[in-house]
Amino acid sequence: MFTRAIVRKPGKNIAEGITTANLEQPDYDKAIDQFGAYIKTLKSFGLTVDVIESSPVYPDAHFVEDTAVVTPDIAVITNPGAAARNGEQLDIEPVLKKYRNIAHIKNPGTVDGGDVLMVGNHFFIGISDRTNEKGAQQLGNILASYRNTWTTIPVDVGLHFKSSVNYVGKNTLLVTPDFADHPALASYEKIMVGSGEDYAGNTLLINNKLIVPKGFPETRKKLERLKLDIVELDMSEFRKMDGGLTCLSIRF
Ligand code: GLY
Repeated sequence: MFTRAIVRKPGKNIAEGITTANLEQPDYDKAIDQFGAYIKTLKSFGLTVDVIESSPVYPDAHFVEDTAVVTPDIAVITNPGAAARNGEQLDIEPVLKKYRNIAHIKNPGTVDGGDVLMVGNHFFIGISDRTNEKGAQQLGNILASYRNTWTTIPVDVGLHFKSSVNYVGKNTLLVTPDFADHPALASYEKIMVGSGEDYAGNTLLINNKLIVPKGFPETRKKLERLKLDIVELDMSEFRKMDGGLTCLSIRF
């Protein structure tokens, strides 16, 4: 069960972040409204939410998930793999220190939290443009010292592993077609996102409830068979900056 989340308010500089989305520029006021709805949903799921002020320096800083991997035992402060984002983690550490002992990923290792999927006490660590083998090894060693297991998985499409694969409970992964037959995921049931709905792969499970991005009806319909409560949130402004539901919070 998660009891807390950390989020960070988007800044007026939101459109200056990194993106490959080829969509129009995000609208700040709309992003703030969507962020407000996100916090409201987390609170309605029973979480206590720490809200950090926006960053004037880092336009992607509201994608806090990338700055830490938090387990019941430890908070691992990451070493984000994009130079333009490396530094965001420094503002997150003092908040997490209130709740967990801290460990760090260090150079030359890099890790973005968006590449790390926790399924019970197993952790999938995506090797991507942001997370390298050395970072994965450091993180894996830390996790293993607390009786967790871990495996790496290559991420050749999408920004992060969790852009494409997420755990939705009941031993089931929501996957995009690129990961559907991956042998590393063979022991799980799979739900494939709807046709042309890859963005919906970034769906967020919190305490047996699902938050799904608005506008992906085929995926939603497939998820309904899990018989979990589903809340749909409009993520349009964050999608324009390659971000999704998991990116906007650290849950623990
Ligand atoms: N804009 C999110 C990222 O590239 O990390």
